[in-house]
Amino acid sequence: MHRYTILTISLLSVTSCFACPGHVRRAANGTVTPQSYTVQTRIKPSVPTSNVAITNVRIWDGYRVHEPDTIFIEGEFIVKKLRTVDEVIDGANGILLPGLIESHAHPGSTKDLETLSSYGVTTVLNQNCQNYEYCSSMRGQTGLTSFFTAGLSAKAPGSSHANNSNSPLDTLIWSPSQAPAYVGNVFGNGSDWLKIVSEADGPDQATQNALVREAHSMGKKTNTHASDLESYIMAIVSGTDRPQHMPLDGLLNETMLDLMRSQHQYATPTMKVYYDVLHIPGAGASLGHPGITFDEGWAFVKQNVAAMHAKGIPILAGTDSTTPYAGLSVPFGSSLHDELWYLTEAGLSPQDALRAATTVPAWAYDLPNRGAIAHGMRADLLLLQPNADPFKAINDTKKISRVWVGGLEYMNLAGNSSATQ
Ligand SMILES: *[C@@H]1O[C@H](CO)[C@@H](O)[C@H](O)[C@H]1NC(C)=O
Ligand SMILES: *[C@@H]1O[C@H](CO)[C@@H](O)[C@H](O)[C@H]1NC(C)=O
Ligand SMILES: *[C@@H]1O[C@H](CO)[C@@H](O)[C@H](O)[C@H]1NC(C)=O
Ligand SMILES: *[C@@H]1O[C@H](CO)[C@@H](O)[C@H](O)[C@H]1NC(C)=O
Ligand SMILES: *[C@@H]1O[C@H](CO)[C@@H](O)[C@H](O)[C@H]1NC(C)=O
Ligand SMILES: *[C@@H]1O[C@H](CO)[C@@H](O)[C@H](O)[C@H]1NC(C)=O
Ligand SMILES: [Zn+2]
Repeated sequence: MHRYTILTISLLSVTSCFACPGHVRRAANGTVTPQSYTVQTRIKPSVPTSNVAITNVRIWDGYRVHEPDTIFIEGEFIVKKLRTVDEVIDGANGILLPGLIESHAHPGSTKDLETLSSYGVTTVLNQNCQNYEYCSSMRGQTGLTSFFTAGLSAKAPGSSHANNSNSPLDTLIWSPSQAPAYVGNVFGNGSDWLKIVSEADGPDQATQNALVREAHSMGKKTNTHASDLESYIMAIVSGTDRPQHMPLDGLLNETMLDLMRSQHQYATPTMKVYYDVLHIPGAGASLGHPGITFDEGWAFVKQNVAAMHAKGIPILAGTDSTTPYAGLSVPFGSSLHDELWYLTEAGLSPQDALRAATTVPAWAYDLPNRGAIAHGMRADLLLLQPNADPFKAINDTKKISRVWVGGLEYMNLAGNSSATQ
């Protein structure tokens, strides 16, 4: 059904996640090797024009599940009514959710977008762009998960993230005076937001502040990687819009939580990657905490998420999924469903967890026609099997019946529909 031209871009490992290729590999055996990603550029099919009615579905509107109803799709969008219908699909009384938004991932090819689509993840937010040509090739793939992206993340020379990505000096930042040029390059290259890496040997407070200020002065938003308490506090203080990850070595105090809330900061805990990385023996070293046990790290992550949620700080569901590499691979798609489970383990209700993957990121990332099922929204839809009820058992979101991405039903190259469990 889909045809591809394959081009191979050789690039170093994706670098802004803490568990990205390179980072854990270095801790595991002390070597860093370049990786080659295959970028597949789809030849786009034309935009859908057919009018579809999906009957007998129970729509979740973000707050409750409605009685069985019919929903209409006109081309790419959901509409209230249709004059003519080309195709009628029986929803079999399944619950219909908005397509999910994955708020922290590193897709390495359109194959990864295929996998995301098959799990009902219809929007992915890429949290580092190591190669602008590659990132622009991932955008706008008709019928596949939409790709939005950070720029090349702002790292300091000599820092773990800079070393692990072998970043050339002219892509690094070490003083506030460099912020205007750095931020100019990120947005000059078409990035949707700025990504900063706050870490023990990363950009200092003044530099982080300047980067955030500069982006805001251009009307843009910022994300900041921070996975230990000190770095996370620097991120909060800088006024960054969306801190990424969660401290695994201590608890944020009330003052810091109040500051986050008053500055309208959004948290993306990425519990899934902590859960997986903390299970790898010796992984503590790569997290800056040699010897940390699963129980210690996981308890801090969970308690911080719970405290933020109790404070009313909005939470976004993200996983740090990447292409596979030595020792760890957080898989695309299925991992976001796992993240929903972990969020409920930290005290969110199933409904709050689902909002963390729909309405909340749509708001946080200014994606006005996503994350909800209503007239005029993009027809990004996840239809569950008739027996699935994620509001009773959150893992039921994996009981997928069918998926639509921008009005096109997702089918993989083998011609079958969604990955179901
Ligand atoms: C990064 O590499 C530089 C130069 O080799 C070294 O001085 C520095 O200690 C390294 N930083 C880390 C965190 O390994
Ligand atoms: C894109 O970024 C590179 C550095 O990564 C920079 O040299 C170049 O000037 C930027 N392009 C634009 C149009 O800003
Ligand atoms: C909370 O943490 C911040 C940052 O570490 C610290 O400056 C502040 O004194 C702490 N506040 C309280 C009340 O402990
Ligand atoms: C280090 O890990 C890489 C990636 O898994 C592997 O290819 C290489 O053989 C390992 N080197 C050593 C010395 O174990
Ligand atoms: C839900 O899925 C998670 C992650 O796969 C698993 O660990 C957990 O046991 C499941 N929960 C239930 C109630 O089955
Ligand atoms: C669907 O396609 C995948 C290949 O992408 C294949 O592994 C799987 O067996 C197929 N499932 C069915 C039910 O045909
Ligand atoms: Zn990441």
